Amino acid sequence: MDLSALESRFGQRGVQFERLGEDLCVVRLHSEHGTVAIALNGAHVLEYCGADSKAVLWLSEKANLENGKPIRGGIPICWPWFGPHPDDSEQPAHGFARISQWELVGILGEHCGGELGAEFRLTDSPSSLRMWPYSFELRYRVRVLPGALDLELVTSNQGDRAFRISEALHSYFGIQSIHSATVDGLDGVHYLDQLAGMERKLQTGNIQFDREVDRIYLDAPSKARINGSLSGKQIEIESRGSGSAVVWNPWIDKAMRMPDFGDDEYLEMLCYETANAGPHSIAVDPGQDHAIGASIRAL
Ligand code: BG6
Repeated sequence: MDLSALESRFGQRGVQFERLGEDLCVVRLHSEHGTVAIALNGAHVLEYCGADSKAVLWLSEKANLENGKPIRGGIPICWPWFGPHPDDSEQPAHGFARISQWELVGILGEHCGGELGAEFRLTDSPSSLRMWPYSFELRYRVRVLPGALDLELVTSNQGDRAFRISEALHSYFGIQSIHSATVDGLDGVHYLDQLAGMERKLQTGNIQFDREVDRIYLDAPSKARINGSLSGKQIEIESRGSGSAVVWNPWIDKAMRMPDFGDDEYLEMLCYETANAGPHSIAVDPGQDHAIGASIRAL
């Protein structure tokens, strides 16, 4: 990817292009309301800080910053399937959107206005069609708004057959300690425990972490809050167009098994993912769109 071509097409005050790691091409947006950095690989949000410059998201020290590889941390897009492929273990986990090269199609708003954002696009290609035989267009809008990072992923069916997707905006949040962090807002909500053969269980009270947690919350309420974030502020996630929320922390053994995750890093992150997963997969008819979105704010 040619940084100078991007610079001359999209460069303006508050918009910069840089190369990170091996070969990642990254667009960084900076306004009075905060900063966001997004890699074209996966249209992956790597970093977000609000106006106070405090980091909200977590990125592993061991993340692969390489085109074609998933990035551990930030906000991977899981699409068109969430988790392992339903019947082909050779296919990439969490789908191919997060390891595909997206196109930057436009800058939204201005440095000095109320918002600054970027819009990305991914369409079917010979390689996507080998993994998933449908014609599609994805549009992803990432915007820094006053007090919030706003994400919107729109799936369009461009073919002549209906398809079904599962998906997630797989946000990794930085926390002070997993031993004291909690997630509020899911009291009384049922979840599928991915660590107990998808057994259906009931959440009582807030979510606390004292072991590996890997859950798909069903019919999750639109708002949840993380307590114990890095900045000390509560983080609110307001989801749109999603039926589920996934909460994940790998804990000790799984952390040690993941090559792109430090052994002790489970202490400093948790994932709260705006999702349509498990029974909440979405059918999209030819010519139709489906949108999922999240607004992340430090309160
Ligand atoms: C979560 C899943 O969404 O993502 C977990 O619920 C999974 O089961 C985790 O381990 C990380 O997935 P990956 O493919 O990025 O290692």
